[in-house]
Amino acid sequence: VKKLFKGNIIFSKTSDTLEALPLHYVAVEDGIVSSVTPFIPKDFADAQIIDCENKLIIPGFCDLHVHAAQLSNMGLGLDKELLPWLEDYTFPEEARFSDTRYADKKYRHFVKLLWQNGTTRSAVFTTIHAESTIRLMELFSASGLGAYVGKLNMDRNTVPALKESTAASLENTQKWLTHCAKYFQAENELVKPIITPRFVPHCTTELQKGLGKLSLKYNVPVQSHLSENRDEIEWVKKLHPESPSYTAVYDEAGLLGQTPTIMAHCIWNTPEETALLASKNVWIAHCPTSNMNVKSGIAPIQKYMNQNIKIGLGSDISGGNTLSMPSVIRAALQVSNLYWVYVNQDCPPLSLFEAFYLATKGGGSFFGKVGSFEKGYEFDALIIDDTNLSDENERSLPERLSRYIYCGDDRQIESRYVRGEYIPEPFS
Ligand code: GUN
Ligand code: FE
Repeated sequence: VKKLFKGNIIFSKTSDTLEALPLHYVAVEDGIVSSVTPFIPKDFADAQIIDCENKLIIPGFCDLHVHAAQLSNMGLGLDKELLPWLEDYTFPEEARFSDTRYADKKYRHFVKLLWQNGTTRSAVFTTIHAESTIRLMELFSASGLGAYVGKLNMDRNTVPALKESTAASLENTQKWLTHCAKYFQAENELVKPIITPRFVPHCTTELQKGLGKLSLKYNVPVQSHLSENRDEIEWVKKLHPESPSYTAVYDEAGLLGQTPTIMAHCIWNTPEETALLASKNVWIAHCPTSNMNVKSGIAPIQKYMNQNIKIGLGSDISGGNTLSMPSVIRAALQVSNLYWVYVNQDCPPLSLFEAFYLATKGGGSFFGKVGSFEKGYEFDALIIDDTNLSDENERSLPERLSRYIYCGDDRQIESRYVRGEYIPEPFS
């Protein structure tokens, strides 16, 4: 199937540049971009034209770190720091997901909100419960949005309702992966499993090593949390005095880049840890809204970018207070400004283009050729009608993008596409 999308085309090729092409055509064949041109390509003469007029066509947003089961806690308990916040707010809510009917209701709302906010791909944590995790995967499939979805693992230091024995945690994960291998691992599947040890304090070495083996056996990626909060880091030191660092604990367990790996936060890495992440090709999920709310700190993203580490942005609901990726982009820009002023003059502020790149092509790279409109990329797109943000003056496309990112929200998103397919509002 061939489609032509006509409008003002905006996307990133590199981290610090922006392609902004007025009234161009994106030619899409079977969901894949074949060209962006000012005219209709010859072999697309008969293609369906989706005329977006003077609107913006931008890549769909990628959320590289989000907890689906924490949606109901959005905006709650944020006077606390990470560890007490987990105990008092997060665990009681996550425990409710043993009830698959409750999970179904909450997860429908979650998928609907991702859709509303223009997040077309996400890397999602659920809870320890395999059945409700599968339910979320089915809901994603029905919606047409792409996602990696991970059943959590926890076998120590958590509340009884959420604690699995080491053996049960591995067995439940293996069963879940077997189910996924049957139902969610077609070549072109948009919804896939991801192995998800919550973080070192909640996973014994035996569990971590078992999960590392499963990631290889089933060829499944890995996501977790790393170096978010100073009390958390001290706790890891106490639990693993034998290990040179928090990052090394994951590495020794086979959970660092044996298969594609996302580590959320990475605020307090030592230079050795950063070098280890770089050498293992780990993606960092930068979660600035969450890091501000629970007082974790500011990750030196510009420094990581200079070391060619792969980086995406995460909403980290409900440490984060919004699913809106433009809001997360804004926060990334703002914390980088303050980091430069107050912390390190050698770590310059992110530019708008860089932050936009992180939320599209940067995070998108975890999903394949996603997050850009270069030839060969999957056409995930948002049609943005920014009329209600415009002023009397003629504005360039980068200015219109800037205003949308700083001042816009879901109301400007007129439609969403994933792999060239129009995505209607789910479950309505
Ligand atoms: N570290 C371990 N679990 C969590 C979580 O649910 N949210 C955040 N932000 N950090 C964590
Ligand atoms: Fe998180």
